[in-house]
Amino acid sequence: MQKMWNEKFSREDFLYGEEPNEFIKSQAHLFSKQSHILCLGEGEGRNALYLATQGHYVEALDASDVGLAKLHNKAKIAQVTLDIRHTLFENWEPHKSYDAIISSYFHLPKDKQQELFLKSFFALREGGYFVAEFFSTHHLKYKSFGPKDPNLLYDICDTAILLKNLPCEIIKLSQEIIQLNEGVGHTGKASVIRIVFMRLKNL
Ligand SMILES: C[S@@+](CC[C@H](N)C(=O)[O-])C[C@H]1O[C@@H](n2cnc3c(N)ncnc32)[C@H](O)[C@@H]1O
Repeated sequence: MQKMWNEKFSREDFLYGEEPNEFIKSQAHLFSKQSHILCLGEGEGRNALYLATQGHYVEALDASDVGLAKLHNKAKIAQVTLDIRHTLFENWEPHKSYDAIISSYFHLPKDKQQELFLKSFFALREGGYFVAEFFSTHHLKYKSFGPKDPNLLYDICDTAILLKNLPCEIIKLSQEIIQLNEGVGHTGKASVIRIVFMRLKNL
């Protein structure tokens, strides 16, 4: 997996463009000034760089050192600081509470999707937000970009069940057909799942 992503990111330009994911950007108003934000599966870092330029304290986690090196160089040029975590999500052990955790197109196998929501939930402070966009199982019908393995896609009913057991307020959980315009990697129609939840007080 790491090798595959390193090869995909070994290019001059940015596979998913240089602009942040539109949905993540549209929800950034939820984050108060100078929030501590973790970006999961951040790749070449377009969301992380955007959030860091907004004045947030940002950590970008990814398995691809090639993607993260591109983010490092761009952050240096933009004169913004952020923390880069080169690790597998499975090996990540959060050491603090984040104000927000965001992710775009971080596709883990079905048996790890619960771990994604659980670990993220417990790594948020009370009142902290999780914001993410994924390709849905319905995306396969477009036979275009995105994971081809159905086991890597997100099913809205399964996701609802996983979130139902967490003490969180689900602000948004939707499946939508959208037009993506994110570099050469994501251009065209897509079926996506969009999630925003807020961690509630500990029980
Ligand atoms: C489709 S790319 C999305 C990159 C970025 N979020 C964006 O939207 O531009 C998926 C990213 O997830 C990372 N990834 C996949 N599985 C991972 C894992 N188990 N641990 C850490 N990173 C992983 C890949 O290295 C890749 O950068």
